[in-house]
Amino acid sequence: MLAYRGVAHAYGARRVLEGVTLAVQRGERVALLGSSGAGKTTLFRLAYGAFAPTSGSVLVDGIDLAGLSGNALRAVRARIAVVFQQHGLIDQLSVSANVIAGTFGRRTTIGALRAVLSPSADDRAAVAAALEHVGLADRARDRAFDVSGGQRGRVAIARAIVQRAELVLADEPAASLDPLLAREIVDVLLTDAQERDAALVCTLHQPELTRGFDRVITLEGGHIVHDTRTAAA
Ligand SMILES: Nc1ncnc2c1ncn2[C@@H]1O[C@H](COP(=O)(O)OP(=O)(O)OP(=O)(O)O)[C@@H](O)[C@H]1O
Ligand SMILES: [Mg+2]
Repeated sequence: MLAYRGVAHAYGARRVLEGVTLAVQRGERVALLGSSGAGKTTLFRLAYGAFAPTSGSVLVDGIDLAGLSGNALRAVRARIAVVFQQHGLIDQLSVSANVIAGTFGRRTTIGALRAVLSPSADDRAAVAAALEHVGLADRARDRAFDVSGGQRGRVAIARAIVQRAELVLADEPAASLDPLLAREIVDVLLTDAQERDAALVCTLHQPELTRGFDRVITLEGGHIVHDTRTAAA
């Protein structure tokens, strides 16, 4: 579902990734560990086609992202749900409108507007179910601006769930959550991926949260230093 082939990346003179080769299969759930600055978010940005790697290639379901732009890139992105480290919520919109934005990739502009202004019964049910999963059923009508940092992260996860993407990239979904809630939210992502046979890559800072993943990868200094399949997989 996602493959990196000999990927190196530098931001100007700062070399961040070196010789990263990695393939994540459909339905595989991968925890990505690595200290701050190791290059985890950079790997995600490459998967999303935010920019091209300095060398090597990145493929999503066999499609090389190099040179894709416009509609072709949009079509690939619609298949990927990204829970950004910075959440990427629109503060002025309600929590539920932010969640519904997860469906925009498969809609036209008019369809997206309609989904926000007068969502169908199906959309409303999907949003309600996703917010229930992340424990925010009672906050649907609040403005995104008015929910806490940890809750914003959970809204972003609900948005990823309604997208029903084949590849889910979650960048530190457990950050700013207490340990109990962190475990619950990681479990929500694991279950959602399993039920839909989606690939999940989740960056984490706490090794204890890797329980339940099929595979644990550690990135250090731009290299993959550990790649372990867990006994359960
Ligand atoms: N746009 C940029 N320009 C220059 N340097 C950058 C840029 N983005 C990231 N970097 C640098 O690249 C390195 C890797 O960054 P990245 O965000 O991928 O790390 P990370 O593993 O996600 O870290 P964290 O756990 O803190 O989120 C860091 O040293 C960072 O400062
Ligand atoms: Mg990061």
